[in-house]
Amino acid sequence: MTNKIEYTINLLKQAVADYGHDVVLASSFGAEDVVLLDILHKHNIGIHVISLDTGRLPQETYDVMQIWRKKSSLNIDIYFPDASEVEAMVKQDGVNLFYDAVEKRKLCCQVRKILPLKRALSGAKAWVTGLRQEQADSRSNMQAVEDDQAFGIKKFNPLIMWTAQDVWDYIKSNDVPYNALHDKFYPSIGCAPCTRAISVGEDPRAGRWWWEQEDAVAECGLHASPIKK
Ligand code: ADX
Ligand code: SF4
Repeated sequence: MTNKIEYTINLLKQAVADYGHDVVLASSFGAEDVVLLDILHKHNIGIHVISLDTGRLPQETYDVMQIWRKKSSLNIDIYFPDASEVEAMVKQDGVNLFYDAVEKRKLCCQVRKILPLKRALSGAKAWVTGLRQEQADSRSNMQAVEDDQAFGIKKFNPLIMWTAQDVWDYIKSNDVPYNALHDKFYPSIGCAPCTRAISVGEDPRAGRWWWEQEDAVAECGLHASPIKK
């Protein structure tokens, strides 16, 4: 475990050494991301943090965002979707369009997440995520440092080798503030209407876009390869 923490610290420092102010950490304030925030904070690693507020986040996510804003001196910028794009989409398809068809769900993710992420990353030469190989089959081949084809920049995944147990051991032993939904059987948290609690034995990502076909590929769009549930 100590080795994994050291590895993560070194990779974050490496990102700064390579890209200086042109590296950005994307945080959803989920369990992995609060570990990264804690490491940045404790080790004084000057990486700029961005978060995407889709406008549909659970209250618990806003609560933990606010705790971090008050607790740390990290530089956290929240990006919102373009208001006129949201208005046009809602006029055309309604506020809860994501339940109507996979294409509508992808459109909503595009407008509320991907385009704001593009804006947040414009000018950046690298970004950092809290992705872990263990999270899904399609994440098992990820590399610690990758070329992100979708955004045309480098991508650092410093928690790549961490297990869920490692994440929670770190959170508990360092008293890291985390999203209260994790204590209500939400291992993976996205937008409120698209995330539910899971039951014992279910896949940790089973609560994301759960109404879509069991064998459908849950393409979130933030990360280049499709995410299988
Ligand atoms: S998702 O693509 O299926 O939503 P997931 O919730 O597993 O992704 O999170 C994986 C990583 O994507 C996070 O560790 C974080 O780096 C980034 N991410 C996901 N959602 C957001 C968000 N709302 N704001 C910023 N980064 C995010
Ligand atoms: Fe829209 Fe749901 Fe995607 Fe959030 S997760 S952007 S509400 S479709």
